[in-house]
Amino acid sequence: MEKKRILSGIQPSGISTLGNYVGALRNWVKLQVDDRSCFYCVANMHAITVRQNPDELRSRTLDTAAILLACGVDPNRSALFVQSEVHEHAELSWVLNCYTYLGELNRMTQFKDKSSKHSDNINAGLLTYPVLMAADILLYRAHYVPVGEDQKQHLEIARDIAERFNKVYGDVFVIPEPLVPKVGGRIMSLQDPTKKMSKSDPNPASYITVTDEPSAIMKKFKRAVTDSEGRIAYNENQPGVANLLSIYSTFTGMTIEESLAHFDGMGYGTLKTAVAEAVIDGLALVREEFRRIRDDKAYLREVLSRGREQAAEVAARTIADVYGRIGLGAFFD
Ligand code: TRP
Repeated sequence: MEKKRILSGIQPSGISTLGNYVGALRNWVKLQVDDRSCFYCVANMHAITVRQNPDELRSRTLDTAAILLACGVDPNRSALFVQSEVHEHAELSWVLNCYTYLGELNRMTQFKDKSSKHSDNINAGLLTYPVLMAADILLYRAHYVPVGEDQKQHLEIARDIAERFNKVYGDVFVIPEPLVPKVGGRIMSLQDPTKKMSKSDPNPASYITVTDEPSAIMKKFKRAVTDSEGRIAYNENQPGVANLLSIYSTFTGMTIEESLAHFDGMGYGTLKTAVAEAVIDGLALVREEFRRIRDDKAYLREVLSRGREQAAEVAARTIADVYGRIGLGAFFD
């Protein structure tokens, strides 16, 4: 039987947070099982929809690849590659642009958000961002796409484009299914627990990155915003404590109920220290591995070049098929 293919992408926007780790990276690692083939790309072409410093973009692209490897993406099982190194992404993206309606793109919530945040630079790339993402997915004829809740709309448009194209030209694309992590994977800001943890937050005390030093992790958890209830419980009225409990459960493998029983009668200080320790333990290897891999240029180069070859082989086949069907190729067969 043919292996099911998985594709996902991550933007090179610096060192990942605890939220990215729990919501995405850990899942990517778990999805690497024998009956599937995984394609993981660093989506650096998506990054230029906002202005980037070229050297920083290059450096963050390698940071992101190194983070993925440090978290456990295994280059012997998965193809890990950089989007811009497989030119078929740009090619298919152009084709799919011609099968996508302006109305659909205008409705995307992320486009609306981003254009209000970057009102000085509402470029066409910001609008067609989901088409490039559809190309990433459809190029590999991926069956499953692990994404966060915020990317589900982009996956829906990818499915719509694929179905539209297939209706005219036959079964060219696989219709991809989203794999959205179960609730509980959502990690909130340590300073405002009603907001998602994000590294674009101006206050670095609000987020933990996967390479933070143990002392920094401890300090940030100790300063985490809780409430004045003074009772460790898991409910909407205590979002700060609930966030700490869910991080604790995630890192210890305990259920929320078990964690509640464990902390019964204890104070917030104890909870904070215990969460910090669990996170420090859980990330120790990632931090060490990241430093080692990021400093080993020869290794990174070798892994990414192998990934590029594996990706390009599949991508070239799809593009040849697409060009042939629409009349952009296959001139003399
Ligand atoms: N847009 C995604 C994000 O910002 C990243 C991404 C790019 C992606 N290409 C993809 C995710 C393809 C899944 C599949 O999170």
